[in-house]
Amino acid sequence: MSLDDAATKPHERLQQALAGDLSEVGDLIRARMASEHAPRIPEVTAHLVDAGGKRIRPMLTLAAARLCGYEGLDHCKLAATVEFIHTATLLHDDVVDESQRRRGRPTANLLWDNKSSVLVGDYLFARAFQLMVETQNLRVLDILSNAAATIAEGEVLQLTAAMNLATTEGIYLQVIRGKTAALFEAACEVGGVIAGQPEPVVDALARYGDGLGVAFQMADDLLDWGGASGVIGKNTGDDFRERKLTLPVIRAVARADAAERAFWVRTIEKGDQRDGDLDQAMEILRRHGTLEETREVADGHAASARAALGEVPEHPLTDMLSDLAGYVVARLS
Ligand code: IPE
Ligand code: IPE
Ligand code: MG
Ligand code: MG
Repeated sequence: MSLDDAATKPHERLQQALAGDLSEVGDLIRARMASEHAPRIPEVTAHLVDAGGKRIRPMLTLAAARLCGYEGLDHCKLAATVEFIHTATLLHDDVVDESQRRRGRPTANLLWDNKSSVLVGDYLFARAFQLMVETQNLRVLDILSNAAATIAEGEVLQLTAAMNLATTEGIYLQVIRGKTAALFEAACEVGGVIAGQPEPVVDALARYGDGLGVAFQMADDLLDWGGASGVIGKNTGDDFRERKLTLPVIRAVARADAAERAFWVRTIEKGDQRDGDLDQAMEILRRHGTLEETREVADGHAASARAALGEVPEHPLTDMLSDLAGYVVARLS
């Protein structure tokens, strides 16, 4: 690794290595997010798309296909599909979570309204499906349509688990595998599939995506407790306000003494939150060391992701994916 490489973040190195493909994906997204008939659609999509985003998921598809030696054009369509699905879920998610900031901007639900966000999200889902159908690859359609269903399942499971102090680590894992890791997994898997790779390689790519996605969401849940909102482009403390049980809270609830238990019952179960509660919640998490523990669990999933790459063809992009797994957790410090 050169000094230059060491100074650049893994996702930036991926961006450089995949620059040509990414610009093609950007063109596809721009061309397909438009609508002749309903001007509200390009207004809302441009607001979100122009804000950028890290484009991690489309890079996974592009990198997976390229490191498997793929030379065709469908990987760009699939990468755009994946980013459309992601963008659609963000529009819906910000309505469900009543969030006010996304990608450093006010959310679409705040600037326009919930109705626009829901309907434009639906439109983007439909556009995603049109794009993937163009590849005429049934296996790819199977993987991505399953992922779309699994994301919705994860979000709904989270809805019913919120406010429930009996939520287990198992349910939490099921929620984040569904709402986040499923798309990371599918993004990687379809790259291997269109490159015509043997089953063990496709499977290893899928396992990489799963481990990366789980680690990524755990890191995101940690950032909600302490990231600088300027850095993450979203407000912090949303999960507590939304009464969501993420891993640091689940573990703290399991070890709570009577006073702490009463605090969680009031704030999360009953939803009676007052000034200073967020700080107090943070103090309890610190007392039990559950933020640090969550980071260790996330590290474990990142390590599984890296291990899966052992069965994937060797390539500079494979090394970048390996570094990315470490980075999604390391970005916390
Ligand atoms: C946000 O994903 C949703 C989560 C799964 C936490 P990203 O952090 O990848 O969002 P963008 O696309 O970079 O804005
Ligand atoms: C994001 O979930 C997952 C999806 C968009 C499906 P979160 O609600 O945890 O993520 P942020 O914090 O809004 O990005
Ligand atoms: Mg959200
Ligand atoms: Mg959410």
